[in-house]
Amino acid sequence: MNKFQDVRQHLLQHQYQWVVTGAAGFIGSHLVEALLGLGQRVTGLDNFATGHRRNLDGVREFVGPAAWNNFSFTEGDICDPATCAAVLQGADFVLHQAALGSVPRSVADPARSNATNVTGFLNMLIAARDAGVRRFVYAASSSTYGDHPALPKTEDVIGKPLSPYAVTKYVNELYAGVFASTYGTQSIGLRYFNVFGPRQDPHGAYAAVIPQWVAALIGNRPVKINGDGETSRDFCYVDNVVQANLLAALAGDEAANQVYNVALNERTSLNQLYAMLRELLAPRFPHVAAHRPEHGEFRPGDVRHSQADISKAAALLGYAPAWRIRDGLERALDWYAGHLEQV
Ligand SMILES: NC(=O)c1ccc[n+]([C@@H]2O[C@H](COP(=O)([O-])OP(=O)(O)OC[C@H]3O[C@@H](n4cnc5c(N)ncnc54)[C@H](O)[C@@H]3O)[C@@H](O)[C@H]2O)c1
Repeated sequence: MNKFQDVRQHLLQHQYQWVVTGAAGFIGSHLVEALLGLGQRVTGLDNFATGHRRNLDGVREFVGPAAWNNFSFTEGDICDPATCAAVLQGADFVLHQAALGSVPRSVADPARSNATNVTGFLNMLIAARDAGVRRFVYAASSSTYGDHPALPKTEDVIGKPLSPYAVTKYVNELYAGVFASTYGTQSIGLRYFNVFGPRQDPHGAYAAVIPQWVAALIGNRPVKINGDGETSRDFCYVDNVVQANLLAALAGDEAANQVYNVALNERTSLNQLYAMLRELLAPRFPHVAAHRPEHGEFRPGDVRHSQADISKAAALLGYAPAWRIRDGLERALDWYAGHLEQV
């Protein structure tokens, strides 16, 4: 039996109280869904800054009424310390996802990204310390590798941050480390690379590349590839991220107070991604076969290449991503094809 099966088995037999922040967002809603499916009690916290009620509605439909009874939701802001403290009362585990994502959003409004991603993070960490939670697992980011050229990325070799967003995510790691040494708080940071899957928002100026392109291709609108299209990413299906979170929460003490890459150790260029999406969508949407991309400027703050070494997560957490990019894209596209009018 692999480690993730062990953890799932354990959770099916032991009920804990979990807090998922950013629960109405893309990744948070998948965490809530997985936990409720394993019979866990979950409190969600979200202020709907970028998340949506429809994501929670999707979870409710998926898990059914019995599991949904184990879910409670607080609409609130992590920038408010009292909210964080109230939500964390009695919590065993925290999966902290709430943040303002997107490099360009942080370039446009660094103060707002800092307020949520740094002050909000610190509020949550203080609340976790005061509530005596067993483990605080948080969404870190591959943007922390910044301008360091080494590939694949290993956790202890980072460069200078290239955006305000990257600064905020690196500060999270610094605070988590200091809280471990100063107060004994147990945390694990998961450096997500480019995560994708159902429910990821395709709309708005700061949408991630996969949902944005899928919506554009289905709607027969232009797709703009930034730069020459040879920029590459380690795209990671969301179920792999769920796996990493549950493993991190229940991993032994020796794995705590460290950061881990979460992706596949694969690299896909934007040109390859576009070609794959077109190929997968064409049978269902014939107009897509004739679609051609436009090329634009490189985006400020963007890292050129990104690829994760995942051996540390494999060794210490038992992380074994079950979803390759193509399988994940097929799943995500099924969902977008069925839900595009609602999102
Ligand atoms: N999606 C990725 O590829 C990726 C990559 C690296 C890191 N991350 C990190 O993963 C986490 C989840 O990202 P996501 O892709 O699900 O984004 P998302 O925008 O879908 O989810 C973030 C959620 O946090 C909520 N939120 C924002 N500010 C808040 C506040 N002040 N108080 C309470 N809730 C607030 C939003 O409403 C939203 O529901 C974030 O921390 C993000 O930085 C994501």
